[in-house]
Amino acid sequence: MKYVSSPQFATVVSNEELYAETWICWLDAPSIAGQAQPGQFVMVSCGDDTILRRPLAVHQVNTESGCFALLFKLVGKGTRRLAELKTGQSVNLLGPMGNSYKFVPGSKNILLIAGGLGIAPIRFLAQRALETGKSVILLQGAPDADCLYPSALLPRNLKCHNTTEDGSEGSQCLVTAILHEYLGWADQLFACGPENMYHPIALQNNRLFRVKPFSISLEVRMGCGFGACYGCSIKTRHGMRKVCQDGPVFDYYEITWDKTG
Ligand code: FES
Repeated sequence: MKYVSSPQFATVVSNEELYAETWICWLDAPSIAGQAQPGQFVMVSCGDDTILRRPLAVHQVNTESGCFALLFKLVGKGTRRLAELKTGQSVNLLGPMGNSYKFVPGSKNILLIAGGLGIAPIRFLAQRALETGKSVILLQGAPDADCLYPSALLPRNLKCHNTTEDGSEGSQCLVTAILHEYLGWADQLFACGPENMYHPIALQNNRLFRVKPFSISLEVRMGCGFGACYGCSIKTRHGMRKVCQDGPVFDYYEITWDKTG
């Protein structure tokens, strides 16, 4: 078993709704802010009566202040408890955990694909890519305009193409439907979103997908978060893998899309 960090307490610096029942919580935790890489997550305890911790991707870090941010949507009791946290209160968490997105040597043009809350780790990755001088395009998809991450809060110099299912902003389609427009430009692809976002990509069967490095982060339910419960197991071309320990970042081509879950 890989090294598992000890539980620690982080102090809430701010906690507010950013858009459409999606909250951003900044936490004072220098060890996590200093270590976390794009794609990694923390296991957050949401209170005494919510026994299991919730896996949440690291969304932003500020290494100077020793703070990092989580982005979460109100989807149940645990996240509602998180949204109630006030400045100065403390949160028990484990992390940073899991592996991270990696740039391959020589990749200059980076294509990012975010579906829904998948923007949480993707924004962090975009920031890192821009800081290292890469050109970055973000394709962001959501059901409607209200559910898109606000453009004004994205890093400067990030080019963005939004899609919405109802056409209220950007192109009216699924985010995967515009991928082919950018494949020739991209040296490397990264994605995060719900599992059903990835299936249409497999069906596109574009030969360019086969020659471009493509890393994805999987959003799955987790129990322990550190390899003990097997609750996050998925099938891959190399056998069963645990998302919490072997991921959450995988090579897109490693996943057997008809056999996940
Ligand atoms: S969440 Fe327990 S093994 Fe992955």
